[in-house]
Amino acid sequence: MAEKVTAFAPASIGNVAVGFDMLGLAMDGVGDRVAAERVDSPGISVANVYGLDGEIHPYLSSDPDHNTASIAAKALWNDYGDDAGVELSIYKGVPLQSGMGSSAASAVAAAVAVNELLGTPLPVEQLLAYALVGEQYASGGLHADNVAPSLLGGLVFCPPVLLPEVVRLPVPTGVSAALIHPELQVNTAHARKKLAQGYSLDQWLSQQGYMGGFIAACASNDIDLIGKTLKDVIIEPQRAAAVPCFAAVKEAAERNGALGFSLSGSGPSLFALCRDHDAANVATAMEQACRGMGIDCQSFVSTMSARGAHIEE
Ligand code: HSE
Repeated sequence: MAEKVTAFAPASIGNVAVGFDMLGLAMDGVGDRVAAERVDSPGISVANVYGLDGEIHPYLSSDPDHNTASIAAKALWNDYGDDAGVELSIYKGVPLQSGMGSSAASAVAAAVAVNELLGTPLPVEQLLAYALVGEQYASGGLHADNVAPSLLGGLVFCPPVLLPEVVRLPVPTGVSAALIHPELQVNTAHARKKLAQGYSLDQWLSQQGYMGGFIAACASNDIDLIGKTLKDVIIEPQRAAAVPCFAAVKEAAERNGALGFSLSGSGPSLFALCRDHDAANVATAMEQACRGMGIDCQSFVSTMSARGAHIEE
């Protein structure tokens, strides 16, 4: 059995506009890494957490009870571990409080790495429950719309009522995601607490229609229907004001041919789904609009079939 392994888990777009807490999309090329190494001291410990610059992370805790990666790893270790222990090193690639599933990526990478170190007692799908324990610590709610796509890749339907069961959805060909991360932070746990608790029948009917239509559109490769259904009439109106560049970036995305646009998770990241050939232009236009509001940002373009978490050689 290996003495040390490293797992990569991708960033993700939570909610995907239409499915609050129940739809998530993995992102290509950006994610967290967790290295897990066998040590003699029992249980799960954290050696260090490294930031995007490779330096020790200024904010994230290496206390194993206060880090999503070690919390997920501990849950798995409690069920399948032995008398020895595992030391984690966490390499953040996903910016914190970005709406790109940062806490989920760490939790997923840790669960995948520790499972590998234990000789893979569990198939990947069953790691979801453990990664969720870590994610719940960070976000204050039980939702898998970041953890599930980060673990499994692609587009995943994961309504809380079905957890830990989730459904991998077919993705349309010819559609990509363009995302910008404005240099702002939104705390998901705080953003969730501010949401209204009661909604009207009209809102419920609209959102059900959009979500069902969007899933059907993805399955049937109906790109026009994606454009008609990628909408959030319930959560986005409550959260958009927390991202000052929201309206300008949305206008830029739509002017450049985006099929639909919304917040990624609780924001501040903003995403659009677009035809593949429009994606680079849409990302550039979104970036320019954001900078035009005086807010620095980074952009990413991703396929809708990004690979999920995996062990790196
Ligand atoms: N579904 C969660 C929310 C995702 O919107 O609060 C957070 O990234």
